[in-house]
Amino acid sequence: MRTVEEQGYHFEEWLTPEQIAADVQEVGNRISVDYHDKEPLFVVILNGAFVFAADLIRALKDVRCEITFIRVSSYWGMSSTGQLEFIVPLQQVVDNRDVVIVEDIVDSGLTIHQLKAYLRAEGASSIRVATMLYKPNKLEYNDAKPDYVGREISDEFVIGYGLDFDGFVRNLDAIYKVKNN
Ligand code: IMP
Repeated sequence: MRTVEEQGYHFEEWLTPEQIAADVQEVGNRISVDYHDKEPLFVVILNGAFVFAADLIRALKDVRCEITFIRVSSYWGMSSTGQLEFIVPLQQVVDNRDVVIVEDIVDSGLTIHQLKAYLRAEGASSIRVATMLYKPNKLEYNDAKPDYVGREISDEFVIGYGLDFDGFVRNLDAIYKVKNN
């Protein structure tokens, strides 16, 4: 099993690139069924979701879609500050659009909760959430429960496949879990 050390913390491989690809394809298949007769706008939350989003949109079959990016910040290191800061605002008109938010991981759900409220106010006709990972026992906002999930995870800190530790290790091709020693 592969391991990684980052800032004194030890991480071990949890999802291999092959397992990730299978999970992403499954999510892509479900979205393809639900959106084949629509023209969804994928709103990708930077920075973390860019890797998942790149794979996900290529896993879609017969879905005419657009993709745009937003950047928010609510985390620093391993703990939440509870603050959501809009760093890159939405560039695209969402009025009357079927929006699919693309997230790397849903934790407390604060990011999704706030972004959904924003998109609703901007006139989106429907809003769903696709996330690579979901921590169901950390969810604090009911409306942030994701519609499409690659894989559920308990309350553990993970890195790789877009997920960072203070900005680093997003480029790992697998997802690694922190070891508690
Ligand atoms: P939420 O707003 O509490 O749901 O937090 C979501 C954001 O927190 C994600 O987009 C990540 O940037 C970050 N995050 C939450 N858990 C982890 C983790 O285990 N590893 C890396 N980032 C995480």
